[in-house]
Amino acid sequence: MAIRNIRVMGDPILEKVCKEVKEITPRTRELIDDMLETMYEANGVGLAAPQVGVLKRIVVIDVTGEDPMVLVNPRIMETSGEQTGGEGCLSVPGKSGIVTRPNYVKVKAYDRDMKPIELEGTELLARAFCHEIDHLDGHLYVEKVEGELADVEDEEE
Ligand code: NI
Repeated sequence: MAIRNIRVMGDPILEKVCKEVKEITPRTRELIDDMLETMYEANGVGLAAPQVGVLKRIVVIDVTGEDPMVLVNPRIMETSGEQTGGEGCLSVPGKSGIVTRPNYVKVKAYDRDMKPIELEGTELLARAFCHEIDHLDGHLYVEKVEGELADVEDEEE
């Protein structure tokens, strides 16, 4: 496994629409492992493949630090409710902004073995599903920020 370089806003790769994954190859597995390692190393709760420069529909999420999720070709099937709160992105370092998202999200995807999975989340997990899946279509949360982007203090432990 290896830490990959995280692309930052302004990099055109973050604005592209990613391609569906057709099969899991050894390279795909390596990408997934690297994405998880890169996300944890950066203290993030989610990371999408285009953020490490790969235009594939793959995201990793872990909102608790002990529940890694791998979503291949994820699709939002259902949403409900609304939450408004702070959001940040590893590709927009040092910033945060207020974004309104659904409070409940149901997702269909494939896991790292291409087995179909269905996941549900509320609150932070629902927000992470929406944020990461947006990345796969070339969208950053900054497009949805209400008001101004704010500077955040570094919260390194
Ligand atoms: Ni992001």
